[in-house]
Amino acid sequence: METLILAIETSCDETAASVYGSTRGVLSNVLFSQVELHKSFGGVVPEIASRSHLEKIGPIVKQALSQADATLEEINIIGVTAHRGLPGSLLVGLCFAKALAWASNKKIIGVDHLDGHVFSPLIEHKVPFPHLCLTASGGHTAMFLVGESGTYTMLGQTLDDAAGEAFDKVAKLIDVSYPGGPVIEQLARGVNFKDFFGYPVGKKNTLNFSFSGLKTAVLYDLIEKKAYDMQAKKFLRTHDEHFRAQVASSFLVCVGRIFCAHVAYALTQMPEIKAVTFAGGVACNEYLQQQLTRLCMQHGLPIFYPSRQYCTDNAAMIAYATAVRAERNLFDDLTLDIS
Ligand code: KG4
Ligand code: ZN
Repeated sequence: METLILAIETSCDETAASVYGSTRGVLSNVLFSQVELHKSFGGVVPEIASRSHLEKIGPIVKQALSQADATLEEINIIGVTAHRGLPGSLLVGLCFAKALAWASNKKIIGVDHLDGHVFSPLIEHKVPFPHLCLTASGGHTAMFLVGESGTYTMLGQTLDDAAGEAFDKVAKLIDVSYPGGPVIEQLARGVNFKDFFGYPVGKKNTLNFSFSGLKTAVLYDLIEKKAYDMQAKKFLRTHDEHFRAQVASSFLVCVGRIFCAHVAYALTQMPEIKAVTFAGGVACNEYLQQQLTRLCMQHGLPIFYPSRQYCTDNAAMIAYATAVRAERNLFDDLTLDIS
């Protein structure tokens, strides 16, 4: 018999719910993005985020059930992101999930947001194990060795900024809108993803990442080129659009080199790796996908990335991670708390 999972994700600025069937896969994946609410602040404002989650969570869960043609009675397990994220935002989803589980007498499973990203390529692809997963989002950048039975080990992570955070900060430096990733990609495409300024790649033979040096290098280069006023903290618009695209493209090329260097190093360290996956919001980036695909081809390995809707935060990946935990019998009870 099919196990039906209702999953809720509110760890950051997306209110999301999904229904997932153990035999039919993703049956609905509904999301309200708060991007417009945070845009003028250039980043997520936690207080605004949790208030908006409160407003949207009920209707979004209802919509996820109706799109899946399912009723709450038919749901077997409620999965919810309980670990990693903004505390106020996580609490809204968790309290809602716990109330629902209590009132309807359902099992509950708390999911680590990172599990969602790490397992997200498996929603659509049959990926051989063990594989290397590079997860890059606004909150995390790390590499994992993913094993067969829903287990993984972290091989290395960022020592400072996450890759997505670097995209957002560089976007702010050149005064383009939040979130920075898509705009930077679009600007870079306009100049054919060329490297104009040769920003530094940093340490190569390591499993840990660092992006704050790159961000600072971009800032200092902008100041040197008289394109940024440090006192006013402002991009100087005397510089034309083409210059902005050159910065975006040089930055993106540099991130591509950093990713490739890290994945290549991990592959040389772990010859048992059978495939590579690329997940998280930054994995939407087609240029980065291409660069990593080329690298994997050189190593004779397949690479898999989720489709766009499963790269950025979503509840389908939380539903999938819930299914993985259910298979391992890792259920929680109503004492479940955020962390
Ligand atoms: O996974 P996600 O939705 O949320 C977190 O878990 O953080 O990732 C959001 C991040 C943002 O920093 C955004 O700038 C970045 O993903 N992003 C991209 C692209 N689309 C979104 N970065 C690079 N290129 C993109 N096309
Ligand atoms: Zn995320």
